[in-house]
Amino acid sequence: MPVPNHLESQKRVYAAWARIYDTIYQRMLARPQREAVEAACARGRDILEIGVGTGLTLAFFRPDARVIGVDLSLDMLKVANRKVASQKLGHVRGLMVMDACRIGFAAESFDAVTAQFVITLVPDAEQALGEMDRVLKPGGEIIISSRLVDDGGPFAAMWTALAPLSRAVGWSSDFKVSRLTGWAARTGRYETVHIGSGYFKVVRLRKLASAEA
Ligand SMILES: C[S@@+](CC[C@H](N)C(=O)[O-])C[C@H]1O[C@@H](n2cnc3c(N)ncnc32)[C@H](O)[C@@H]1O
Repeated sequence: MPVPNHLESQKRVYAAWARIYDTIYQRMLARPQREAVEAACARGRDILEIGVGTGLTLAFFRPDARVIGVDLSLDMLKVANRKVASQKLGHVRGLMVMDACRIGFAAESFDAVTAQFVITLVPDAEQALGEMDRVLKPGGEIIISSRLVDDGGPFAAMWTALAPLSRAVGWSSDFKVSRLTGWAARTGRYETVHIGSGYFKVVRLRKLASAEA
């Protein structure tokens, strides 16, 4: 179970971030955000965006998509709501306050579930992944973009060295890709179809259709 105090502190943090978030992150996050949105749109029209924040990703969706965005922070959602109105983003069908660990939608409602720069902030990431799994249709994808670290490889030492800098700018330095792929493997219902490279990574987990599982 998520710790209520943690949720309250996240809300306070993002109430403050809401005013300046876009100025700082709009350009920085655009590449992985576009990649994640493109992958989601390729799975189908019904898409759930968890931790949608100020809605920086929303303009990247195809006009024929049906996107619902949820977030813990009402202040971040207010900014997203203004964006939807000013940019006339008709494909955004709803924005609502919701915890990633308690998703209020019926099972198998969405063709894709995206979680961009949020999974590292959730204390029980596996519970959030379980909720994403529940609301995802078979054949759909969970698409995570975030600051994620490799378990090894040529850059592992460099990322470890940069960890204090990561923490200083508010990024997780120790959320490993294998935490996502390990969860996927343990369910027996997912295949990892993509692991991006670089500082910000996109990881795509495809839920097997019933006949494949
Ligand atoms: C770094 S921002 C990312 C916003 C947006 N996804 C983006 O890519 O620009 C993290 C967002 O996750 C939200 N968040 C944090 N914990 C959450 C939770 N447990 N459930 C839902 N949203 C959460 C925050 O309120 C914030 O809006």
